[in-house]
Amino acid sequence: MTQSSKRDFLAIPDFSAEELYETLDLAARLKSGEYAERPLAGKTLAMIFTKSSTRTRVSFEVGTFQLGGHALFLSSRDIQLGRGEPIRDTARVLSRYVDGIMIRTFDHTDVEELARFGSIPVINGLTDLLHPCQIMADLQTIRENLGRDLRGVKVAWIGDGNNMANSWLNAAYRFGFELRLAYPRGYEPDAEILERARAEAKIIVTDDPREAVEGAEVINTDVWASMGQEEEAAERARAFEGYCVDDALMERASDRAIFLHCLPAHRGEEVTDAVIEGPRSRVFDEAENRLHIQKAILVRLMGQQDGDPG
Ligand code: CP
Ligand code: NVA
Repeated sequence: MTQSSKRDFLAIPDFSAEELYETLDLAARLKSGEYAERPLAGKTLAMIFTKSSTRTRVSFEVGTFQLGGHALFLSSRDIQLGRGEPIRDTARVLSRYVDGIMIRTFDHTDVEELARFGSIPVINGLTDLLHPCQIMADLQTIRENLGRDLRGVKVAWIGDGNNMANSWLNAAYRFGFELRLAYPRGYEPDAEILERARAEAKIIVTDDPREAVEGAEVINTDVWASMGQEEEAAERARAFEGYCVDDALMERASDRAIFLHCLPAHRGEEVTDAVIEGPRSRVFDEAENRLHIQKAILVRLMGQQDGDPG
């Protein structure tokens, strides 16, 4: 199946700021029940996973179903992609059967190739470089707690300069909010993404988590060893000593600060049990919002009638 002018969502800047706000507004309407249409009736989303997942898999599958469509879980262990069939062939074959692809994998360029060769929308469900759907859910959670206009918010990122940090930079680039990043030397985010964000937003980089959280309204962290980095876990635990988000760090944040974590979390490493279970934590609202924001993304990319402008 093909669409005339397909759009992808591989990175937050793939949408304009206006489109991102519209998507966030639709996610709020989906969450409240105000929007209950089924624009994916008769449509299928293929979901390719070469890494583990709880939230991404379940929220995309349930979300597609709730919009009237069908989701197909394709583990790389089972499909020919895992045995070396080229991405570009997989893209062209799947484009003949389904109406959209969501993919979670390692190399971001594989997702770009999938999108280039596929004639249907492709959604990035996490790569080593980016995790845009997660940051959209985080932005929805911020709007629920701190107000609808994202420009004035101060966000602190404590930890690895990983896929989450890179997508926060992309969000700052599009929305223009202040982002403070605290990471140790050797664990920097992507240099190009950082420089691009600097042109549009106030980006503060430090190796001191206390400086990053001072007066911040969103305190955000993630595991120190991402999927695929398991063998570096001990070395990383040493490098990130002093980067645990604990009550003392949270005390320095704004009085209205919320704590976010994409999950899964390692309690006692990047965050204490007291913080993640504490009154400022919004991690389960954040996880729930994956469902609503991804439904909004699916509506935008796959919910058009054939011939509608994308
Ligand atoms: N946050 C997130 O993407 O979770 P999963 O790895 O469970 O999908
Ligand atoms: N940075 C983490 C996020 C998991 C949702 C990883 O890539 O494993």
